[in-house]
Amino acid sequence: MAIERLVEPTVARDDIEEERMEVSLRPMSFDEYIGQEHLKRNLKLAIDAVKKRGDGTTLDHVLLYGPPGLGKTTMAGVIAHELGASLRVTSGPAIERAGDLASILTNMKDGDVLFIDEIHRLRRAVEEVLYSAMEDYKLDIVIGKGPAARSVRLDLPHFTVIGATTRTGSLAGPLRDRFGIIHRLEYYKEPEIEQIIKRTAGILKTEIKPEACMLLATRSRLTPRIANRIFKRVRDYADVNGDGIIDTAVAKDALKLMEIDHLGLDPADRNMLRLMYENYGERPVGLTTIAALTGDETATIEDFYEPYLIQLGLLARTPKGRVVTEKGRKHLQNGENVL
Ligand code: ADE
Repeated sequence: MAIERLVEPTVARDDIEEERMEVSLRPMSFDEYIGQEHLKRNLKLAIDAVKKRGDGTTLDHVLLYGPPGLGKTTMAGVIAHELGASLRVTSGPAIERAGDLASILTNMKDGDVLFIDEIHRLRRAVEEVLYSAMEDYKLDIVIGKGPAARSVRLDLPHFTVIGATTRTGSLAGPLRDRFGIIHRLEYYKEPEIEQIIKRTAGILKTEIKPEACMLLATRSRLTPRIANRIFKRVRDYADVNGDGIIDTAVAKDALKLMEIDHLGLDPADRNMLRLMYENYGERPVGLTTIAALTGDETATIEDFYEPYLIQLGLLARTPKGRVVTEKGRKHLQNGENVL
């Protein structure tokens, strides 16, 4: 990551205090979870069906995909809670060897939920073990080496995998096929973000005026994780520079300090758009070229910058590369006076 960004939708893993806070802000049940109504309705039905049958069958494996920060991990927690099941959390890159996965799986119980974040980053050897585990609840392991090696099949508990990925495109077909429930998380609507900020303010015992709440909602990239992060910084600002109450004036000053503009773009977004436009004008630019211009990795551009810029119509993806749209050009031109 070339520039440390407040609007970064990843969890700040180095900030333990914040992480702990994030967990406490997380809704536990469908009733508490704001937004993603379509997804909630579908999941609720599937969970109710499992509960009603009560014959020991488990929830189908669930794949959640979409831009970061929209609540995939939170939703996994809600699903486990609603099922009354235990949740085990891991991620694709964290499972280094097939043996690591075997150890996780053999320690689970019937009905447990295994959440695998960034499932597209699972190693091939691990992925192959996961196939039969998901399909038949069997674990194929090889014991010994060379001519004496033999393969054994172990029975596994009947568990549910919830996989999360920012890209279904890079998920191997056979893995994708093993999920019975596949859903995309959508960007939230502004009123939903407003409700989330209001809820967070309540949990953190901070007074926020309705107009200030609305203002912060317009700057949060329709993403709860960013809304909560911005909220916490604005709350710091209100505590230090005022009486702790967040009104429109405080919110505006704090946003200005953070250099977040009226569309929720931060300096890194504007920098990327500007570099593209200054160097290529209205012509398409390849992803690796953009990465070279900004000093980021291509995956960062694809996962963190692009989805929201495309959603806003400031950037378009064409077969020949990315282009700054007319709306994007206008935003750059107005850039200085929109903070
Ligand atoms: N906090 C973060 N995401 C949330 C959501 N979708 N609903 C309620 N609170 C949240």
